Amino acid sequence: MTEQPGELDRQDPLPAGPGRFLPPPGVIYLDGNSLGPPTPEGLARCRQVLDDWARLGVGGWTDADPPWFSWAERLAAREAGMLLGARPQEVAVTGGTTINLHQLLATFYRPSGRRRKLVADALAFPSDLYALRAHAGDDLVLVPSRDGRIIAGEDVTSALGDDVALLLLSGVLYRSGQLLDIAGLTEAAHAAGALAGWDFCHAIGIVPLELDAWGVDFAVWCNYKYLGAGPGALGGLFVAQRHLGGPPALPGWWGSDKDRQFEMADDFLRAADAGAFQIGTPPILGIAALDGALDVYAEVGMEAVRARSLRLTRFLRERVEAAGLSVVTPTADAARGGHIAVAHPAAARVGRALRDAAVIPDVRPPDIVRLAPHPLYTTYTELATAADTLAAVVAERRWERYPAGRGRVT
Ligand SMILES: Cc1ncc(COP(=O)(O)O)c(C=O)c1O
Repeated sequence: MTEQPGELDRQDPLPAGPGRFLPPPGVIYLDGNSLGPPTPEGLARCRQVLDDWARLGVGGWTDADPPWFSWAERLAAREAGMLLGARPQEVAVTGGTTINLHQLLATFYRPSGRRRKLVADALAFPSDLYALRAHAGDDLVLVPSRDGRIIAGEDVTSALGDDVALLLLSGVLYRSGQLLDIAGLTEAAHAAGALAGWDFCHAIGIVPLELDAWGVDFAVWCNYKYLGAGPGALGGLFVAQRHLGGPPALPGWWGSDKDRQFEMADDFLRAADAGAFQIGTPPILGIAALDGALDVYAEVGMEAVRARSLRLTRFLRERVEAAGLSVVTPTADAARGGHIAVAHPAAARVGRALRDAAVIPDVRPPDIVRLAPHPLYTTYTELATAADTLAAVVAERRWERYPAGRGRVT
């Protein structure tokens, strides 16, 4: 392939065609790993929900099409097959990542006797660290990073011994974009007699997951990044078949057997599947937006999404590095998630200069500018412009025009 972006766009076009996701107009949107844009299908379904709410009131739970009451279960089945390599009964679309993490830690982190440690990585998302500390206290062991960017697999495995109850890691690290060896580390946890749980926020919808084949015990994720479920939309959780059937630590009526929920029994008649881990009433607008976005994914398939994602991030990385900038995301395809992380000591100010030049990145302290192409809406031409803009912002020190201090939240 020639490296001319226009030619690459002809050879490797948007796989579902243009206009299938709707990033904000007039900008190059590279922040879909923070908040993904909507799809026309998702917006249409959201409008339908609003109309049904006005038309049917509470009747929407049973009489809307599809009925709101069981919509999350339908979506769980879609995500299971299309994105997760899981069985429908192992997945629930529910809650949020942090809430789901608390639910599954409270249920599956069971320190006993000598086996007490919870091993996680020091580069985990802060909310995960807060939850992990709350559950494990002094038994939390954080595997350090040697360079502050990457977690070495052997450092994780050497932390696993017969005193470890649970390994909890992120599939793709939120700052550097490193993709961990999910299968290998899960196997290592099992070999040590521990369970393996995962946070797939930065993996779902961009990296194909094979949770059953890899033997993952449980997992959580959000749907508002690559999957375009909308601001604050509900997340998801996976519990392997072999762990289903027991009580969730944090029960709520939405985890009831759907056929019996409205018996309003004082005793919790829990669902037999992963739906048992739901807690309360789900927000339906997020479900509607997610369902629409999954239609686009269904047309393309995760293998094609991943293949184009790798081509886009390879192209972007080469352009950014050619401008003399430092990319901290691993080079190998097998170790790279969906975004490219550029290190710059004035990252927050560089980010503001980029936004003013109509390129939307996000910034993660202390020094990372994240650029996330999405294979279903990003073109090579956009990436070339974004890389040129970044190069100019740095070469001309345009970022110095922006005061140091807190940046915008993205
Ligand atoms: C890796 C990771 N874990 C957890 C979270 C927290 O998600 P939520 O706010 O939905 O609980 C995020 C949010 O961006 C994240 O990126």
